[in-house]
Amino acid sequence: MHPLQDLFNNNLRWAQRMTGVDPDFFRHLTEQQTPEYLWIGCSDSRVPANEIVGLPPGELFVHRNVANIVIHTDINCLSVLQYAVDILGVKHIIVCGHYGCGGVKAALEDKAHGLIDNWIHNVREIYELHRERLDAETDSARRLAQMCELNVMEQAKKVYRTTIVQQALQRGHPLTIHGLIYDIADGILKDLNVRFP
Ligand code: CO
Repeated sequence: MHPLQDLFNNNLRWAQRMTGVDPDFFRHLTEQQTPEYLWIGCSDSRVPANEIVGLPPGELFVHRNVANIVIHTDINCLSVLQYAVDILGVKHIIVCGHYGCGGVKAALEDKAHGLIDNWIHNVREIYELHRERLDAETDSARRLAQMCELNVMEQAKKVYRTTIVQQALQRGHPLTIHGLIYDIADGILKDLNVRFP
């Protein structure tokens, strides 16, 4: 038996269910994608972008990495952003973090995790920036929650500052960047009320 047989079985059932509701569903998708939203989220398996916001294929352009980090030299993230804004014309960019993020937690610790520490260093810098306030919080779970929220705000700001977003806004392209956070404990998505511009 194929080691991924369960996944193929699930896939067949899913495809049949989709065409059961709309026989032309996949045919329409082959013609174009016109998503209004770009989602920048964490790779965490508990935070499946489309499912959380109830959007079918074709309606959410997605970029995920560990701890939903946006770096101005990350050609991967920038390419997603540029394609989403300039070619697809998305109107909303959602930076979505989540409570209990392992990547953010690692940034608060002094433990070594290998290569990933180089990536996590970007969150570590945000921690250093707000260290006084974060260290004043004695409850470690609350400190992590605060750090997860701060990380979203900083990453959303970084999206806003990219040349891609700045030039799009100068062209008059309607574009808003939102900072959201998801709670894996209850499945609820919360607006951090961070919005750019
Ligand atoms: Co995470």
